[in-house]
Amino acid sequence: MYIGLDLGTSGLKGILMDEGQRVLAEATAPLSVERPFEGWSEQDPASWISAAEAVLGQLAAKGLGAVKGIGLSGHMHGATVLGADDAVLRPCILWNDSRSHLEAAALDARPEFRAISGNIVFPGFTAPKLDWLRKHEPALWDKVAKVLLPKDYLRLWLTGEHVSEMSDAAGTAWLDTGKRDWSDALLSACGLSRAQMPRLVEGSEVSGHLRGDLASRFGLPAGVVVAGGGGDNAASGVGVGVVRAGEAFVSLGTSGVLFAANDGYQPDPATAVHTFCHALPNTWHQMGVILAATDALNWYGRFVGQDAATLTGELGGLQAPGKTVFLPYLGGERTPLNSAAIRGAFTGLEHVTDRAAGTRAVLEGVTFAFRNCRDALAATGTKIENLLAVGGGSRSDYWLRAIATALDCPVSLPVAGDFGGAFGAARLALMAATGAGAEVATLPQISREVLPDPALKDAFDAGYARFTAAQTAIRSLA
Ligand code: XUL
Repeated sequence: MYIGLDLGTSGLKGILMDEGQRVLAEATAPLSVERPFEGWSEQDPASWISAAEAVLGQLAAKGLGAVKGIGLSGHMHGATVLGADDAVLRPCILWNDSRSHLEAAALDARPEFRAISGNIVFPGFTAPKLDWLRKHEPALWDKVAKVLLPKDYLRLWLTGEHVSEMSDAAGTAWLDTGKRDWSDALLSACGLSRAQMPRLVEGSEVSGHLRGDLASRFGLPAGVVVAGGGGDNAASGVGVGVVRAGEAFVSLGTSGVLFAANDGYQPDPATAVHTFCHALPNTWHQMGVILAATDALNWYGRFVGQDAATLTGELGGLQAPGKTVFLPYLGGERTPLNSAAIRGAFTGLEHVTDRAAGTRAVLEGVTFAFRNCRDALAATGTKIENLLAVGGGSRSDYWLRAIATALDCPVSLPVAGDFGGAFGAARLALMAATGAGAEVATLPQISREVLPDPALKDAFDAGYARFTAAQTAIRSLA
């Protein structure tokens, strides 16, 4: 058996998987995000350990005596800074924190960052956060002995070792993404060195072994391997079987991701596409990232005093987009805008705009943001002809139909089950424990395919034109 742990922004999820890749048990524990100031988003790493203890405790009830491997997945880019004694120096600064936008712009202006890391230095990435610390919390910055990504802090607790893997490391802005190694040049540009970074392994390799005290506490055998794992998007790619060029998925989670696997390294930072290592050796992936997907729907739900499921449930069949446009930039945007300052908007409100029209506009706005991402990926030569849909938002049939029609691309929905980061992490654990490779990352069985609606194609094209016009119009307000 294998355990996959996925440290999500709003909760930690664990699954127990058998040798035949059947999910035997699932457990979750909630996590909260602190937003003490505008643009800040932080989590206490101690809460990740408590959540992992709760999840392992729940899974232990199933009996963990046959577990051979544990895999890790987690939200990317977070700066977890540790002192010499591995004590956490401050709350982790998360992926959706935009306080370091000035530092990001300054690093991004140095040509070596895009050239070596293959990406724009976005404010959400790790390097500008450390530069922010250097400027604003210098006493603390002086004490930084190690910088860990969130799931790698969980690994430190599990194994006692400082290790990361390529997919998450690629989101720091310190990795030479083509060479799959830390870049001494980029680290020293931030006043840091390799000694402050964790050792690197591939996601499917062994990163360490479970500490004896934890093994006996949760009833696991001695010597259980902990796999490198992956950043949550790469781990989801492994979970949903998107590991070969030509395969792609759309993730409707807190953030929205349009993800394509590549068998070579083809960066294009000019388009705000993210080009990262995949969690499997010699494989890369590209993605467009939108910061608020279900987050936008949940925000609208709070705004109108109704939960998201009720809002999407009260929509009938797919309709032509109306005049009302929603721009989902509640906390800035990554692809394609790269703006921490831009904020969301409704435009084209009318007397007839009611709650359902607002819900449709929110779903369409996120959908059109995915079309922006698809075009950005296409500009690098990555063609998407079919998309798997994952994440909580994929429960909305209306949303899937809108995406299929707006992107003019069939969207396949996997059979009910878990194909996200936790499942991908469990698959990586299986690979690390048995030496298996990409062949075990098969595509899921499809429950249904949602096709573009040809009768609404022109209306969605016109809606997209309104969306991009509104996008241009509000940029000057930021
Ligand atoms: C990816 C990104 C998010 C986080 C949170 O670049 O910032 O998808 O990984 O899930």
